Amino acid sequence: AMISMRQLLDHAAEHGYGVPAFNINNMEQLLGIMAAARRTDSPVIIQASRGARAYANDLMLRRMMEAATEIHPDIPVCLHQDHGEQPATCFSAIQMGFTSVMMDGSLEADGKTPASYQYNVEVTRKVTELAHAVGVSVEGELGCLGSLESGHGEQEDGHGATGKLSREQLLTDPAQAADFVAATQVDALAVAIGTSHGAYKFKSKPTGEVLAMDVVRAIHERLPNTHLVMHGSSSVPEDLQAEFNKWGGEMPQTWGVPVEEIQRGIKIGVRKINIDTDCRIAMTAQLRRIATEKRGEFDPRNFLKPAMAELEKLCARRFEEFGTAGQA
Ligand code: G3H
Ligand code: 13P
Ligand code: NA
Ligand code: ZN
Repeated sequence: AMISMRQLLDHAAEHGYGVPAFNINNMEQLLGIMAAARRTDSPVIIQASRGARAYANDLMLRRMMEAATEIHPDIPVCLHQDHGEQPATCFSAIQMGFTSVMMDGSLEADGKTPASYQYNVEVTRKVTELAHAVGVSVEGELGCLGSLESGHGEQEDGHGATGKLSREQLLTDPAQAADFVAATQVDALAVAIGTSHGAYKFKSKPTGEVLAMDVVRAIHERLPNTHLVMHGSSSVPEDLQAEFNKWGGEMPQTWGVPVEEIQRGIKIGVRKINIDTDCRIAMTAQLRRIATEKRGEFDPRNFLKPAMAELEKLCARRFEEFGTAGQA
């Protein structure tokens, strides 16, 4: 059934597990993720970016979600707007049947300039006031995502870096987080702890605690009832990179967020873990493989079936790793 993110994550908090939020743009991604959720008995967050809504058409997304919940009636699922850049985006998502929205007021509406704290509070509060009136949950974001390694922030689309940001800008301030949640009443809060979007997160293999887990701990202590969200949480596994490159892909060596680091986060209050890049690589590596191995193949299903199967495998692994499995 489609439920709100508040309902879904309250259960996760009560039982101490994390829920992956996977991005979708098409039917194959949705089917692959739902098959994994079914196979492992996991609740799941399906999210659509503005780009996804433009790509697939709002009505297609909505009807696909309705179909998915009819096919899998026992899987608790929520449909979440990923990175709404202004209140209007969140409002149209709510109109379209999304059960959760992210108002990302950490950047101005241009998606580039780090926004003032006051601006962030204003736009986010505007969204929670309306969303809560109709039973929809809200995720806010405080602090700018970016690399502690390079000191660069990132653009909102995850591509390319902005100028250097200070360590203060790159990490969410726990005292300000408490003030932000009191002022906006968000259900979930995306925190800046050193993750960034896309495949190129770390230039060398991360060892030990690579993210600012002390910041997560401090925020969770002040805000035990606010669900913490980790964006940019793809692990960019070496075996997926190798598979992609084996079939003619050209992905320079890179490192993502180690799964153990996410598991540490879940122990101290992280409840929603955003993953898109890993899913993209898993699927596209298979499209490359079929294109290379079966050069006469032209039935798209014979490309998309193995791509879906790989996505399902990856998602099932994450459900197990995050403790989501068995919680549906
Ligand atoms: O945060 C970005 C997500 O990976 C979605 O990416 O805006 O290209 O759809 P997108
Ligand atoms: P990745 O690029 O690490 O998969 O992050 C996705 C994300 O944060 C979507 O909001
Ligand atoms: Na989001
Ligand atoms: Zn994100």
